[in-house]
Amino acid sequence: MEIAGYRLNRPEEIDTPALLVYEDLVRHNIREVLRVCGSAERIVTHVKTHKSAEVLAMQMGAGMTSFKCATLREAELLAEHGAAEVVIAYPMLHPAKLRRLSSLLKLYPETEFRAIASAREHLAALSSVAADAGVEIGVYVDLDTGMHRTGVQPGAEAGGFYADVAEASGLKALGVHVFDGHTLYKPNVEERAALVDRSIEHVHDLWDRADRRGIEVSDNIAGGSWSFHLYLKEERLRVSPGTWVYWDSRNATMSELNFRVAAVVLSQVIDADPERGTVTLDAGSKSVSPDQPTEHRFKIVGHPNAALTAQSEEHGVVALNGERLKVGGLALVAPGHACTTTVKFPYALVVDSDGDVVGRYHHQARDH
Ligand SMILES: Cc1ncc(COP(=O)(O)O)c(C=O)c1O
Repeated sequence: MEIAGYRLNRPEEIDTPALLVYEDLVRHNIREVLRVCGSAERIVTHVKTHKSAEVLAMQMGAGMTSFKCATLREAELLAEHGAAEVVIAYPMLHPAKLRRLSSLLKLYPETEFRAIASAREHLAALSSVAADAGVEIGVYVDLDTGMHRTGVQPGAEAGGFYADVAEASGLKALGVHVFDGHTLYKPNVEERAALVDRSIEHVHDLWDRADRRGIEVSDNIAGGSWSFHLYLKEERLRVSPGTWVYWDSRNATMSELNFRVAAVVLSQVIDADPERGTVTLDAGSKSVSPDQPTEHRFKIVGHPNAALTAQSEEHGVVALNGERLKVGGLALVAPGHACTTTVKFPYALVVDSDGDVVGRYHHQARDH
């Protein structure tokens, strides 16, 4: 079969739903992120999207050495495969996490592990790990520039906290970490650029405050796939997008970026209701982007007018809106969110440009 340039030979041999990753499109996306960023040194890519040693190897092969992660399992995967730098961008407090981090620091002395912090409790926890492992841990102040998920508030609070990091035993204050989730899903680039400029102002304010206190700032990380390219004008920032590697149907609404959707779900039409003009696919919330609002959970490749109207665990009901899909037929579904789709599958089937399945990307870091 071939739909809108996605070829797949012998689809009847692949049970559905199945995650397919088009390797050439991943390679295209790697070239594209390097082109946009100018060099691999500007990128601290997040591995949560692919969670896979095989994709990591491709990123490392393209020169990327610094990575971001959200879980300790991802951190372990990165260290096991020789990442030079691992930024754990998630507050670590639980004693089990602290023990695990300490073991990692001892087991992989060649990997530089770094953390983020935004509360005194984070600093106490990280100091205890540094003492246990006998190392110094580099720490970024997590700055809340508008997402309101984690982070200290910009201004005096951030300046004071940066000084707290610098004084904490066993920790080195590195600079600022910003994740600006409030830029997500805003297709208008001017709107996003204005939010990014505001974040950059907050970052400058923190740099000024650090400067006035005589505390060094050596490194700073900002952004995700919806904003990273807008931060590049600020040379002291590295950028941390993750979804770019697979892209998805929501990210594809950004017209200024040229990434391609590399990961799709092969799905079968299992029933139809001609009266209502709907078909039902086996692309349920246990297969595709369960974190998204229903209408954004997937788009059907080659059938742009079809729209998901309801989804249960193993079913997706789609209004055809004039598109034609037959019961028993196969469809390629472009997830609305690649990162929450990959974790639904233990591995992805790798498809080459001829449409042959040539291997698997295992999701080794799928669990916590
Ligand atoms: C802290 C952090 N950094 C970077 C990213 C990467 O952003 P994206 O998935 O939009 O590329 C995320 C995504 O959730 C994140 O939470």
